[in-house]
Amino acid sequence: MLSEIMQEALNIQINKEIYSAYLYLSMAAYCDSINLKGFANWMTIQVQEELSHAHKFFNYLPERGGKVTLQPIDGPETEWDSPLAVFKHVYEHEQLVTGLINGLVKLAREEEDYATESFLKWFIDEQVEEEASASEVVEKLKLAGDQGSGLFMLDRELGARVFTPPAA
Ligand code: FEO
Repeated sequence: MLSEIMQEALNIQINKEIYSAYLYLSMAAYCDSINLKGFANWMTIQVQEELSHAHKFFNYLPERGGKVTLQPIDGPETEWDSPLAVFKHVYEHEQLVTGLINGLVKLAREEEDYATESFLKWFIDEQVEEEASASEVVEKLKLAGDQGSGLFMLDRELGARVFTPPAA
C-alpha cells in the first residue's frame, strides 16, 4: 500500500509527464510551422514517449492500492526563436524531469517504500537516455547552424525517428 504522500507525489508526476507531452506537442507545431518536418516528427515521437511514461505511473498507482487523481495541465510555451532554442529547451526540460524522478526516489527511500524505489529504477535509466538524446541534437545543431544544408541533413535524420513502446 502506498503512503498518502507517495501517492500524491506519483499523481503529480503523471501530471508532469503529460505536461511534457503537451510541451513537445507544442514544439512539434512550432517545428512544423518553420517547415522542419523531421524535427516535428522527432517531437511527435517524444510526445508518445511522454504519454507512455505517464501510463507507467497511471498503471502503477492502482497496482499498489493507490488512487489516480488527474490534475489540470498547464499551458506550454508556443514560440521559440530557432531550432537550436527549441532543442536547448528540450534538454533543460529533461534535466528538470530527471530532478523530479530523483526527488521521487528520495521520497520512496524516506518512506521505506522499496517497491516504488524499484519501480522508479526504470525512470532513472530512461532519463539518462532522454538527456543524452536531447543534448546530442543540441550539439549537432550547433555544428549545423540554424540554416543551410547542415540543417536540412539533420531534419532528414530526425525525420527517421520511430516510436518503440517501452517494455511493460
Ligand atoms: Fe518523461 Fe522525457 O521524461
